[in-house]
Amino acid sequence: MKMFRSLMLLVAGLFTGIPAFAQESEISFVKEFASMSSSETTLLIVMGVILLVIVILMILLIYLVTFLKQVLQLDNPALAAEPSWWEQFNERYVTGKVKPIEEEKNLMLDHSYDGIVELDNFMPPWLKYLFYVTIVFGVVYVLNYSVFGIGKTQIEEYEQELYVAQLEAEARQALAVSVIDETNVQFDATGPSLKAGQTIYENNCVACHAIDGGGGVGPNLTDEYWIHGGSIEDVFKVVKYGVIEKGMIPWQDQLSPEEMQQVSSYILTLVGTTPANPKAPQGDKYEQKIEEPIDALTEDELGVEEV
Ligand code: HEC
Repeated sequence: MKMFRSLMLLVAGLFTGIPAFAQESEISFVKEFASMSSSETTLLIVMGVILLVIVILMILLIYLVTFLKQVLQLDNPALAAEPSWWEQFNERYVTGKVKPIEEEKNLMLDHSYDGIVELDNFMPPWLKYLFYVTIVFGVVYVLNYSVFGIGKTQIEEYEQELYVAQLEAEARQALAVSVIDETNVQFDATGPSLKAGQTIYENNCVACHAIDGGGGVGPNLTDEYWIHGGSIEDVFKVVKYGVIEKGMIPWQDQLSPEEMQQVSSYILTLVGTTPANPKAPQGDKYEQKIEEPIDALTEDELGVEEV
């Protein structure tokens, strides 16, 4: 009876505990619960009630069985003397041959280190089995990681993650390159990019802008004066759409967005150089917009190497 009552208390405690949880909506199942539709909630409640009925029935069943057993034992004293399954279980797996604490005096070995003594007691069986489990685990572990190499070591896992991250970065890069336009184009000062830009320039632009950017049919690209603006976006836009009425060809059908970014970046590196036959400046002087905060650290201070 005592057991029955404590079980009921436990169940009741579980249910009264739930509203306290609901206060913290951090818990995901509470959140899910809040976002459920009414039919889902009904289903959940029905399922809950069925579960509750099953639990109550089981408790009742256990109670009846113990009651029946007691009646049987009253009739048959030999049955009562037999150890119950719980006692058998206890003996086999929990206590084993462990001597109780009252017998400690007989078990004590006759040495003591600073008052720490050793008892010659048996190991509890569960601890012994746990020990066996660790041995099996160890063997499986060694076979898995060192002999057959099926499992991945931490280093392998790390390398795999790096590889995946690299693939993702490449995919992102590819995506970014394919969507470069005059709103998001960036000055790309990396070596390979400028080299590619130079090749594109030499193959397409020298006829009108001269090999060193000094100008000819087209304007001088080395001075600070620009007809259409000297930012990377401005240059990209002119290269992409051209200025057809003035003789500057639109390049968007012949160059990819990435190539236009490369050649635009290359052109901006020509600014400030001295060409052999400079054409007189045209347009307005372009002042670089300062985007960095004034107190930003310079590359030297940061220890960044120039690429
Ligand atoms: C057929 C001659 C010709 C070719 C080839 C040519 N351009 Fe031009 N380009 C011009 C002319 C002309 C202008 C001046 C447009 C104007 O006055 O608005 C110009 C202007 C420009 C400007 C704007 C300069 C400014 O001051 O705003 C840029 C940038 C430019 N070209 C880049 C290129 C690039 C890059 C290529 C090669 C991919 C190229 N051009 C090929 C004739 C040409």
